[in-house]
Amino acid sequence: MSAIFLKRFLQRPFQIASIIPSSRELIRRVADKMELSEPRVIVEYGPGEGCHTREIVRRMHPDSHLILFELDPELAQHLEAQFRADRRVTVLNADCATLSAALQRRGHAHCDYIVSGIPFSILEPAKKRELLQSTFDSLAPTAAAAFIIYQVTNELVAHCRHFSRVESAYCLQNLPPMFVTKFYKSANGRINGHASGINGHHLNGNGRH
Ligand SMILES: C[S@@+](CC[C@H](N)C(=O)[O-])C[C@H]1O[C@@H](n2cnc3c(N)ncnc32)[C@H](O)[C@@H]1O
Repeated sequence: MSAIFLKRFLQRPFQIASIIPSSRELIRRVADKMELSEPRVIVEYGPGEGCHTREIVRRMHPDSHLILFELDPELAQHLEAQFRADRRVTVLNADCATLSAALQRRGHAHCDYIVSGIPFSILEPAKKRELLQSTFDSLAPTAAAAFIIYQVTNELVAHCRHFSRVESAYCLQNLPPMFVTKFYKSANGRINGHASGINGHHLNGNGRH
């Protein structure tokens, strides 16, 4: 699975931004951030060869809908071939900035979760601002709705002040280690029955819980 990923990295290093796909542990920790036993509308930005996608698909409810935005045509084709038989999954070879229109076309006012693997830190500031705003606007105004990212740095926290709350943890079992960060749209978000806190950051001094 990772051969195609490496090949596309060599052709588009800044867009792909990683030589190898996420580790099993990172995939598990990202998936654990979502309550997937109920029907959900889930969106993934930059699934690459589909390592997180396969875990989400494995866990998600039969009536859920997963929409994938993959900019790279070859990776999008690879995803299409993997998930063609699953009617819950839609693969779009498109920029994730087109999310709002894509949701509307499919009759969804909002989505419940947005998982992102795109290299946000290298986006130019205006594009980053617009994308974070459309991400926020596309999430449902519910307790569960959240934007979940995995990134080498936690710089996005400073750009996500419009989200109500944030929780972040460091995953060492990935090459390179990554922050897994969850931004809740609503101030009342609860997951697995535990309140996740109140306004502001849940990072301690070194960004780990
Ligand atoms: C670092 S890779 C992550 C791949 C995979 N999710 C993983 O964890 O191994 C980033 C992926 O995001 C895609 N990408 C970058 N910018 C994008 C955008 N604006 N919209 C959709 N996909 C994008 C790239 O083509 C690449 O496949």
